[in-house]
Amino acid sequence: MSSHLEFNDISRSFGDTEVLHQISLTVQSSRCVALLGASGSGKSTLLRIAAGLEDPSSGEVVVDGENLSGVPSEQRGVALVFQKPLLFPHLSVVDNVAFSARMAGQSRKASRDHAMAYLELVKLADLAHRSPGRLSGGQEQRVALARALARNPRILLLDEPFSSLDSRLRDEMYSLMDDIRTELAPTMFW
Ligand SMILES: Nc1ncnc2c1ncn2[C@@H]1O[C@H](COP(=O)(O)OP(=O)(O)O)[C@@H](O)[C@H]1O
Ligand SMILES: [Mg+2]
Repeated sequence: MSSHLEFNDISRSFGDTEVLHQISLTVQSSRCVALLGASGSGKSTLLRIAAGLEDPSSGEVVVDGENLSGVPSEQRGVALVFQKPLLFPHLSVVDNVAFSARMAGQSRKASRDHAMAYLELVKLADLAHRSPGRLSGGQEQRVALARALARNPRILLLDEPFSSLDSRLRDEMYSLMDDIRTELAPTMFW
């Protein structure tokens, strides 16, 4: 979960508007780097480019020395946690977290056992069988985080995942992120 991430000379335009201009930066393995910038300055666009949800107009994303240009999103080993949790409403909490292991062909039991370990990490194991519709905003975002981590991504990307939470909950989430760094040391970029 701790790969080396590099942006080399990334530019991105939408029509005549250049949103990103020759961005080069490196996030070393297991480091946590945050992008700061005004709303509309291109933070989400850069994260979406890293995740493969958007192509740069020029430049490349390199992970552990591998140029990811043309590599589809699902094959990048990069997980993105969005501002909105986007959980599957018809699946329980544990099955949301188990989803990608199930898709990869693991048995229901193995994928749920694996998911439970991540729910414990985000302190939601007791709500494993609840439906996402019956969670608070902070709990939903913790499920989204567990789901991203359960994929064992090379890089964890976060796009203002806690911005809709109140300041107390946000502090709780930051302390949870500290625990995750201690436990898993993922490379994080947000
Ligand atoms: N698919 C798109 N088509 C056109 N313009 C876009 C698209 N995605 C983002 N933009 C524009 O790019 C700029 C940067 O957006 P964004 O990356 O979401 O900024 P941030 O996340 O920093 O608020 C904004 O002006 C936004 O309107
Ligand atoms: Mg944004």
